[in-house]
Amino acid sequence: MQELPNVFLIGPMGAGKSTIGRLLAAELSREFFDSDHVIQDRCGADIPWIFDVEGEQGFRLREMQMIDELTQYEGIVLATGGGAVLREENRRALRERGTVVYLMTTVEQQLKRTARDRNRPLLQCADRERVLNDMFTQRDPLYRATADIPVRTDRRSPRAVVNEILRRV
Ligand code: S3P
Repeated sequence: MQELPNVFLIGPMGAGKSTIGRLLAAELSREFFDSDHVIQDRCGADIPWIFDVEGEQGFRLREMQMIDELTQYEGIVLATGGGAVLREENRRALRERGTVVYLMTTVEQQLKRTARDRNRPLLQCADRERVLNDMFTQRDPLYRATADIPVRTDRRSPRAVVNEILRRV
């Protein structure tokens, strides 16, 4: 019945995981989930509220539970939050339960795409460029170690990225 395994999208904030995930799911006639959206629905509050009240630790715990649940579904496309790879448990669940695609981008692109963003607590600071660079240094090796397929997204349309993923999964 299942022709393709689950497809899990990982990568930093502003890489286009939600946009590309939605398009990819439509192409594959799959169901699409965005772990951040499911966390917000279940919690009945948005991500800034969760960070405010429960701290980043509280959010990471919710994220881990959600990734454990969602990765057990079959035949889905899942977009994860940019920090999902920080936890070993998440990296293992993603690797074991589907094909993992790393949507790569540049800090320059991230700065443009997240410029007026109020929904990402980790970017509500004066020096977003430094924060994004530090995150890249910490997380890029984790994304690479978790992914089966790295795909560039900068200066490419979501459609072009989806076509490349379809060729390579
Ligand atoms: C985060 C990325 C966000 C969200 C939260 C933390 C991160 O998701 O999970 O704000 O640590 O990089 P997106 O990558 O979808 O923006």
